[in-house]
Amino acid sequence: MAVEKTFVMVKPDGVQRGLVGEIIGRFERKGLKLVNAKLLQVPETLAQSHYAEHKERPFFGELVTFITSSPVFAMVLEGDSAISVARNMMGKTNPVESAPGTIRGDYGLTIGMNIIHGSDSAESAAREIELWFSNETIAYDKAVDVWLA
Ligand code: PPS
Repeated sequence: MAVEKTFVMVKPDGVQRGLVGEIIGRFERKGLKLVNAKLLQVPETLAQSHYAEHKERPFFGELVTFITSSPVFAMVLEGDSAISVARNMMGKTNPVESAPGTIRGDYGLTIGMNIIHGSDSAESAAREIELWFSNETIAYDKAVDVWLA
């Protein structure tokens, strides 16, 4: 397995509902390492760049309005197969189809407010970590790492 970095964002609904700590805790307990994080009010230009691949879809305007409506908590997580591990922990895009035990399955009800975003591929992760964090991450060891290898 390859060590990967992935971009994860708790969306405005997750921040407003006080789910940031719960969500970070899930990733930490899984064994993923936090290598950068910030709370921010998303500028419209950043929202449009982030979701650029969806700009022709009918919900694009709604998505940009939602993501800029209130702060988000953005982070970079690192670990073995971090991209697919984080996506699996989030559940399906539509919370109605997400299994219990996943973040969206446990806390979400609608696709418009589905709590969390995670990179869906290595290409997306590289693009999103550059876009949101200018590729800045912190390399450090954790004593527990030897118990996760
Ligand atoms: S995915 O995971 O990229 O395959 O999902 P996709 O269906 O392509 O959706 C892309 C993002 O758009 C959001 N979305 C919507 N927002 C508002 N209204 C509607 N109807 C809607 N449908 C999809 C969805 O939550 C995805 O956001 P992210 O942040 O990438 O998870």
